[in-house]
Amino acid sequence: MSKRILSGLGLLLGAGLSAGSALALEPGDPQRGQAAAVTCTACHQANGSGMNIPGGESWPRLAGQDAGYIAKQLHDFKSGRRQNASMMPFASMLNDQQIADVAAYYSQMDVTPASGGEEASDKLLARGEQLANRGDWDDYIVSCSSCHGPGGTGVGSDFPGVASQHAGYISAQLHAWKDGERSNDPQNLMGAIAKRMSDDDIAAVSAWYANQAPGEEGGE
Ligand code: HEC
Ligand code: HEC
Repeated sequence: MSKRILSGLGLLLGAGLSAGSALALEPGDPQRGQAAAVTCTACHQANGSGMNIPGGESWPRLAGQDAGYIAKQLHDFKSGRRQNASMMPFASMLNDQQIADVAAYYSQMDVTPASGGEEASDKLLARGEQLANRGDWDDYIVSCSSCHGPGGTGVGSDFPGVASQHAGYISAQLHAWKDGERSNDPQNLMGAIAKRMSDDDIAAVSAWYANQAPGEEGGE
């Protein structure tokens, strides 16, 4: 199909859809995405690494995350389905096409290493590894890898990579689900799990995943 027919089709599709839709007019373009992402680098950094901020609000790594997942989160921030005061104004600045473009831009970057798990004790890491790879049947916690993939590197657009993500960010998200402050996940999949985790469990699995170097298989 020619590019013109494709974008015509995109227009037709786009016109029939509500504002919250993840479908964009044209496929995301990383080059246009780079231009639309100039304001993002202040927090997410030029290489998409984000930053772990102990005691503060950590900025997640976006580099190498699935484009469909990134786009969904930006639509969710924009519509208020996912609430965060830092992200709301920046997501709101982007139209549907720019969301697809920045998502394409960050998804093609190399995954960067994470921090925040350096001080964890062996005992804490062992608990983190257990939850990540095997789960805990006594507490009805399914292993993270059963959805986030072996090594927690992510599966498709629905299950984001959590390995090599900053401990501060992972922990903030798990607490947000546990406390009912994040609820944009399909079928409450994460809410149900986070509510069964203790604060120590959250610290353990966050440290474990932050310690996984990009490309490692999570100690399987
Ligand atoms: C002032 C700092 C700041 C700026 C600037 C910023 N972000 Fe964020 N971003 C954050 C924080 C903090 C979070 C985590 C929010 C939360 O805890 O829910 C986040 C989360 C995200 C997420 C969700 C990641 C995930 O794994 O779920 C995406 C996608 C994102 N930002 C994209 C962008 C884009 C694109 C821009 C530029 C248009 C941008 N951000 C600008 C601070 C920022
Ligand atoms: C039943 C499937 C399932 C299991 C098991 C699961 N998750 Fe998730 N997780 C999801 C889905 C789906 C999302 C994306 C939610 C969304 O679309 O906003 C997610 C998102 C996340 C996020 C947010 C990532 C980001 O970039 O914002 C973190 C952190 C996370 N999960 C950690 C875990 C941990 C740790 C475990 C194990 C204790 C786990 N998950 C087990 C389905 C699962």
